[in-house]
Amino acid sequence: MTTQNSMLTIGDYEARAKETMPKALFDRLFGDLDAPDWTTNTANVRAMEAVKLRPRVLVDVSRRDMSTEVLGQRISLPVMLAPTGTHQRAHPAGELASARAAAAADTIMGLSTASSYSIEEVAEVADNPLWFQLYFFQNRELTEILVRRAENAGYTAMMLTVDNLGANSREREHRYAYILEAERTLKNFQGIELPNLPTRENFAESFESALNWRDLEWLRSLTTMPLIVKGVQTAEDARLCAEHGVEALVVSNHGGHALQGTDGSIDMLPSIADAVGDRLEVYLDGGIRKGADVLKALALGARATFVGRPIFWGLSVGGEDGVRHCLEILRNELSVAMGLCGVTDARQVDRAVAQAPVGTASVAGDLERLARLLEQGYLTREEFEGQKARLLE
Ligand SMILES: Cc1cc2nc3c(=O)[nH]c(=O)nc-3n(C[C@H](O)[C@H](O)[C@H](O)COP(=O)(O)O)c2cc1C
Repeated sequence: MTTQNSMLTIGDYEARAKETMPKALFDRLFGDLDAPDWTTNTANVRAMEAVKLRPRVLVDVSRRDMSTEVLGQRISLPVMLAPTGTHQRAHPAGELASARAAAAADTIMGLSTASSYSIEEVAEVADNPLWFQLYFFQNRELTEILVRRAENAGYTAMMLTVDNLGANSREREHRYAYILEAERTLKNFQGIELPNLPTRENFAESFESALNWRDLEWLRSLTTMPLIVKGVQTAEDARLCAEHGVEALVVSNHGGHALQGTDGSIDMLPSIADAVGDRLEVYLDGGIRKGADVLKALALGARATFVGRPIFWGLSVGGEDGVRHCLEILRNELSVAMGLCGVTDARQVDRAVAQAPVGTASVAGDLERLARLLEQGYLTREEFEGQKARLLE
């Protein structure tokens, strides 16, 4: 693809997508940094910038392993494709293209309930594992049908999105009232013979806003797929995930699509990772635009990450090739960042690799980082005690 010569970063893809997509659509799906109705997305990106990597020198980094394991599945880099609705808004090949690109990169894609190709159609073309992102509808029969179809089609985990239930201001939908033909159909509902199926117009209102922790049991009774809760933003909720036997959680604020006025997701990560320890797997999304951002997330407690917008931008610019190239950019940048931080194994990244801004890292996380530096001989006992006392003040 000739365009790729000038496409060196995810930022280049964003800029190109912005030039080519209808403005109202771009503004509704992604928003600009500092756009007034996208404060949480801005917080995600700015918070990521505010975390600082700590370079290390004279470490043998000639071999670097970026692979990791999520829910027992090996992926070649700790970046997965976040479930995002209706990929045909970016390219006619939609999720078929993104699923193929994910397989080429040897990673996992999460398929949205609101996909433009069906659960089965995407499974047919995907050579790598897929996870299914579930919206829990008031209509339980519909919810159950979707879960069973995902399981039958071979999806290997279920991601329950919980951060946008019950309230949707629809401010952006009204402001940017530009609907593509591709958005009118909910492909996964076609052929389901139930009355009053949700439509595009009442989609968000048809989610079960009474959903609570007790309902997870019912969901689990439907399937043997492991359960990932997507959209956890506090240590309290993370602990509840662990208590309810959830296998993994995604620290996420829906890429800023839900509540405005929150912290950036990377700011939420250290306290959440500390709260659950190794009781469940912790992933992060929101604001990842560079390989260095992936390393920051690993350092602050994530096992792996997801990207949302970058997939759309890659699709919009170059379909499957565009998404493949975006993933390659992230892979190469991660490799560079690991090398310059003296990291040889993505599974071994610890808190000493990044410094979160004061007030966002958990005290436990900071203490762990100090202890690691003391243990490795980079802090004297006196320096360690001094810094520890300041932390605990
Ligand atoms: C256009 C768009 C559509 C999305 N659709 C969904 C969706 O259908 N289900 C879901 O759980 N999350 C959805 N998300 C949120 C993403 O899964 C993810 O949390 C977010 O995009 C991560 O932030 P990033 O875009 O900064 O990478 C969507 C995000 C975007 C930008």
